[in-house]
Amino acid sequence: MNRPTMEGLRLNAPAYVKNARLIAWVSEIAALTEAAEVYWCDGSKQEYDRLCQQLVEAGTFKKLDPVKRPGSYLAWSDPSDVARVEDRTFICSQKKEEAGPTNNWMDPAEMRALLQTGDKPLFKGSMRGRTLYVVPFSMGPLGSPIAHIGVELSDSPYVAVNMRIMTRMGRQVIELLGTDGQFVPCVHTVGAPLEPGQKDVAWPCNQTKYIVHYPETREIWSYGSGYGGNALLGKKCFALRIASTMGRDQGWLAEHMLILGVTSPAGKKYHVAAAFPSACGKTNFAMLIPPAALNGWKVTTIGDDIAWIKPHADGRMYAINPEAGYFGVAPGTNSHTNPNCMASLGRDVIFTNVALTDDGDVWWEGMGEAPAHCIDWQGQDWTPEIAKETGRKAAHPNSRFTVAATNNPALDEAWDDAAGVPIDAFIFGGRRSTTVPLVTEARNWMEGVYMAATMGSETTAAAAGAQGVVRRDPFAMLPFCGYNMSDYFQHWLDMEQRLEASGRTLPKIYCVNWFRKGADGKFVWPGYGDNMRVLQWMIQRLEGQAGGEEHFFGISPRYEDLEWSGLDFSREQFATIIDAAPDAWREELKLHQQLFDQLAYHLPQALKDTKGRMEAHLAG
Ligand code: GTP
Ligand code: SPV
Ligand code: MN
Repeated sequence: MNRPTMEGLRLNAPAYVKNARLIAWVSEIAALTEAAEVYWCDGSKQEYDRLCQQLVEAGTFKKLDPVKRPGSYLAWSDPSDVARVEDRTFICSQKKEEAGPTNNWMDPAEMRALLQTGDKPLFKGSMRGRTLYVVPFSMGPLGSPIAHIGVELSDSPYVAVNMRIMTRMGRQVIELLGTDGQFVPCVHTVGAPLEPGQKDVAWPCNQTKYIVHYPETREIWSYGSGYGGNALLGKKCFALRIASTMGRDQGWLAEHMLILGVTSPAGKKYHVAAAFPSACGKTNFAMLIPPAALNGWKVTTIGDDIAWIKPHADGRMYAINPEAGYFGVAPGTNSHTNPNCMASLGRDVIFTNVALTDDGDVWWEGMGEAPAHCIDWQGQDWTPEIAKETGRKAAHPNSRFTVAATNNPALDEAWDDAAGVPIDAFIFGGRRSTTVPLVTEARNWMEGVYMAATMGSETTAAAAGAQGVVRRDPFAMLPFCGYNMSDYFQHWLDMEQRLEASGRTLPKIYCVNWFRKGADGKFVWPGYGDNMRVLQWMIQRLEGQAGGEEHFFGISPRYEDLEWSGLDFSREQFATIIDAAPDAWREELKLHQQLFDQLAYHLPQALKDTKGRMEAHLAG
């Protein structure tokens, strides 16, 4: 058995660290970044509490009122570091075509020179004066055959404590690695070295940012940001970008999807995975509470953001949530829109970029009545009057909470099950104020893949640039697919055959849109809990018990096919959100063509043919 080397001891490696590759790599990164010391996270509660206290002393965290919000903290980031930076995110495959036209690409050798090996590489000395935290984590249940291990080396204690909530983190993961277990190496620095005597700031970061993935060698290097998906590398970088390439090579799927369980009044349980772009309602849908009038339906949460889905020998697809917590959007969350979420946020939460109330609690837009006074996310006085005058928000639109899945009162009993849950339906939904009907069922797998591939959504705070502009977001994976998008479409198409080989039960595919607006500019559909009405229709379709009307790209419910009890929603209102107007769709198909032009390299013929059939139908 390998004993830790002298090198290992200098790295403060605990005796249980026996993986030679891990020790060598930590040593190499500590030398490159010139970290002042190395600390190995064991994942314990004591360690978490200690790091949080340290963050309080450093001014990064404010401890919230222990009665109102026990065990909870608030962090305010630098105003320049508030969201993922898609334009600074790179897929460095050997060939540019492998990254595809939707990803930023740079030659891996060139990128390595810039970050690690060149004249003045960015990571050289980047952790000077800081502690390098070794954060071992498992994406998926510990030791499960579908789980994968990563180790993040970060100079941010904020990252370490968030990773403890978001993943299975700590000593057990290192023990699982043993002497020669495999892990995905993830290097993260805020890019703010401290010179001797230099005072730290509350949220160190760098104006220069690089979020870099090497898909062939399965490595992640992140520079300059401490926020969310830029810094918590298990999430988008590993569980989506790197994992999607692993899935391509190994025959499975890594998706930007929530997973929920839905139990019918008859007690039959189904599982649904749903993809929506960032800030378009995954967390809300995953925690949905059905309206009281829909007696006996129940929804439970397996995951709220990411699904790993594998075909099984029994002919079905099984999904796990690789995460262990939620990093969810705060604004708009309240006890009407998402009561389960509000209940989850009662204790042991890390809030980032929401407002601090005078009584030591938190507030955000859409939480409920505004406080007469609070301190906004930038540390300034905020009152409803100031907001009216200046338009300034108390909470940043992309402010978030980090909370353990086990806080969720609607957590599914199988959420931690290594086998995953069998998927009965996939849902794809964008934010579209026009054109796309409330719900449409695809007639077959291929048409479902077409719907997902051509999905569009009006942009929110998570994407750079103007908000509210429709951009194509295939499968809600535009910022997260680690390889050429057209090859990814083909991979999805191939899944049909993969399952067919073993006597398949293909999930049905649906496309939804909660976001149609009326002439008054308001959402027509009540959404949130009432989305259960749409989910109920889907389940009844699976059971062969609900009607619908076929149109040129699928099947949508007629007014009488949905359950309306407990909701005052007229036939006329319904007509405005269910229609697929030929004129609007002729325009929409032109936008699909633009996407297809962009993705021409390796674009599956089957998708072009499907579009051709839709065009012919609309022309005729
Ligand atoms: P990421 O964590 O960024 O991947 O996003 P998410 O998809 O989990 O986002 P989340 O569920 O937190 O959605 C946030 C936004 O969607 C908030 O502004 C909500 O108010 C809005 N939203 C969610 N569900 C609905 C709905 O049914 N109708 C309407 N109109 N808005 C909704
Ligand atoms: C998203 O942007 O889709 C998120 C938040 O889920 S982040 O982890 O910051 O990517
Ligand atoms: Mn997300």
